[in-house]
Amino acid sequence: MQNQTSPLPAEIARRRTFAIIAHPDAGKTTLTEKFLLFGGAIQMAGQVRAKGEARRTRSDFMKMEQDRGISVSASAMSFDFGQFRFNLVDTPGHSDFSEDTYRTLTAVDAAVMVIDGAKGVESQTRKLFEVCRLRDLPILTFCNKMDREARDTFEIIDEIQENLAIDVSPASWPIGSGRDFLGCYDLLHDRLELMDRADRNRVAETVSISGLDDPKLAEHIPTDMLKKLREEIEMARELMPAFDRERFLEGSMTPIWFGSAINSFGVKELMTGIGEFGPEPQPQKAAERMVPAGEGKVAGFVFKVQANMDARHRDRVAFIRLASGHFERGMKLIHVRSKKPMAVTNPVLFLAADRELAEEAWAGDIIGIPNHGQLRIGDALTEGEMLHFTGIPSFAPELLQNIRAGDPMKAKHLEKALMQFAEEGAAKVFKPSIGSGFIVGVVGALQFEVLASRIEVEYGLPVRLESSQFTSARWVSGDKDAVEAFVSANKQHIATDNDGDLVFLTRLQWDIDRVARDYPKVSLTATKEMM
Ligand code: G4P
Repeated sequence: MQNQTSPLPAEIARRRTFAIIAHPDAGKTTLTEKFLLFGGAIQMAGQVRAKGEARRTRSDFMKMEQDRGISVSASAMSFDFGQFRFNLVDTPGHSDFSEDTYRTLTAVDAAVMVIDGAKGVESQTRKLFEVCRLRDLPILTFCNKMDREARDTFEIIDEIQENLAIDVSPASWPIGSGRDFLGCYDLLHDRLELMDRADRNRVAETVSISGLDDPKLAEHIPTDMLKKLREEIEMARELMPAFDRERFLEGSMTPIWFGSAINSFGVKELMTGIGEFGPEPQPQKAAERMVPAGEGKVAGFVFKVQANMDARHRDRVAFIRLASGHFERGMKLIHVRSKKPMAVTNPVLFLAADRELAEEAWAGDIIGIPNHGQLRIGDALTEGEMLHFTGIPSFAPELLQNIRAGDPMKAKHLEKALMQFAEEGAAKVFKPSIGSGFIVGVVGALQFEVLASRIEVEYGLPVRLESSQFTSARWVSGDKDAVEAFVSANKQHIATDNDGDLVFLTRLQWDIDRVARDYPKVSLTATKEMM
């Protein structure tokens, strides 16, 4: 990740735009809630979501899709913490929505990785971490649930280092765990943070200490635990790298805090870390050039589109990450794909649970623009320059099914509905070159069910999903003549996606290898840039 060379305007420099990644159940929802609580965005814990995403059942997802108002406002949340403005962008917790997660991570400058102190690095943590690594995102780690029996601190740190190949630098050190968990020693500020078990929403008591030899420590920590703490910290300081901000910013080192989200413990220290270490809004990559956040003109890109609360009106909210400039309500921006001007009169800023009209926003912020389908994922809005932001991929689906309207007379309606969902990024839609009907593709099976339910609810169209003869899709590109020859020789495998781009459908990896051999001038790819 590149650093800014010239200083940013203060309003931009104070922004921190990040996401939380976690394996289900590690405590992402609880931590989000505490962030909002300390950010003054909610008054009481328990207001965000009743249930953690991990335990959402299928019907919860359907319901959630229907009550989309809730998920829209939870998609991006802004709040202040000290001098900082935090923009927290939500990532779907369910692995079936991993493509959404990937795109969400294109809109942030950093990620907080939450792990469960008893479970360590879990499968979904690893997957999400790899996505962050692809983008060299700086990562701050929060080791949660220290109020329960946790693993040995050295063991946890070793596991992260070895499993994720990243250096870990402890920002705090836990004192005991489970029932004996007293709090943490803040290694960055030489402070003692003591946990209050009586009041879960209270912030820890902080005791200033002048180093580990300070006799004040003995007033708060029993002798045997203090001895252990001193030994451990001495060892940690010898064995583990000291925090290095440059290495953190380039994604090769993560600071780790230990705490208990449910007890509000360690959360403020983590938030302070996000504020102090940053990063500030980073330059964004466009095909034409890098776009630094401090640039005077407004530019931004759509990373997510979500159908709005009122399904019948089919209005949607496009989530824009502002890459540069100072946006003001009513501004006329150019929609780069259509080259048409667009007056942004009713942008939405997501202040916790309430959506608010955004009067202004700065680079790094996320704004929502209600629209009727003009804005698609990957689209750019600028003050006139034809910029195409890159790095927002579309992935080849891993599951394919044929889709038909329950009522054959409604085939045209189905086509329209499918195109809208494809533009929203909810599924891939392929029209085979031979025969009628459509094939829909998704990354996770749950997406099929959500799609079918939404088509029925929002378009009044019951649909049937049936297994397809194909299992993989690849985008076709390359030399024009070679592509033509390839297409005419493989008609029964060819389809077009909703952008009209050519796709090769198959069920065998062998087929894909064969194409590579027989048609060296044709390439088959599993991802496509959306711009
Ligand atoms: P998720 O979004 O990552 O899936 O996790 P979520 O925050 O929903 O937390 C999962 C479970 O872990 C919840 O318990 C939550 O209360 C608990 N939890 C979160 N942080 C801590 C912590 O610091 N210490 C302990 N001991 N537990 C924590 P649950 O019983 O499954 O649900 P609930 O009835 O408490 O909501």
